[in-house]
Amino acid sequence: MRIQIEPDELAVAARAADAICDVVRASPSTTLGLPTGATPVRTYAELERRVAAGDADLSRASAFAVDEFVAPVREAPGTNAAFFARHLRIRFHELRCPDAAATDPDAEIRAFAGAIRHLGGLDLCVLGIGVNGHIAFNEPGAAADSRARSVALTAESRAAHAEAFGSLDRVPSTGMTLGIADLLESRRILLIAQGHAKSAIVRVAVQGPESADVPASWLRRHADVTWLLDAAAAAQLCD
Ligand code: PGA
Repeated sequence: MRIQIEPDELAVAARAADAICDVVRASPSTTLGLPTGATPVRTYAELERRVAAGDADLSRASAFAVDEFVAPVREAPGTNAAFFARHLRIRFHELRCPDAAATDPDAEIRAFAGAIRHLGGLDLCVLGIGVNGHIAFNEPGAAADSRARSVALTAESRAAHAEAFGSLDRVPSTGMTLGIADLLESRRILLIAQGHAKSAIVRVAVQGPESADVPASWLRRHADVTWLLDAAAAAQLCD
């Protein structure tokens, strides 16, 4: 595993955008896995800037959300589909989210994972990490061999999305996620973490035991994973 530490969030966003653009330049019709949340917002803004400036072109790339809420309406405010519509306004060949309003969420996310496999898998999967160690919606307890499925969201994860949904009681209690095994099948993984609030879980995930208690620790089984951290998120790592 590589650990790359940058001074601040802006530098992290620039390096993350570099990593995405490098993959797309090498293979324009690449397949990407993309996260939502606060973490990638600056990275996506940087990608938008590069595309607008003519420095990047993702129009042949396919992008797939790594998770989604189960909600009554596909693009309800707070869903990942709504997040992408707001924060990643660039042209892809396709940018797909699981249908939040699918009547059978397990079938929906399994078909979604199947569509990724049909394209040959993710060339690069970008991930954030929750303060409880989740990656995508693989909450603590997620096994290394877990597959795409619907999941009950923890109180911590729901609280992190209260603002986006307008209030905590509007945050869905169920999500859909690619499983740990699905994520580990990506050719490359880039995990981004920023800020002091992530420093304790980054340390446990990177330097503690591999454990379902900290789903991000399963990334240590992957041959090509980069942890891209700002100095605050890296503050508790030991030499
Ligand atoms: P955040 O969430 O980017 O909003 O901190 C990270 C995650 O849950 O993956």
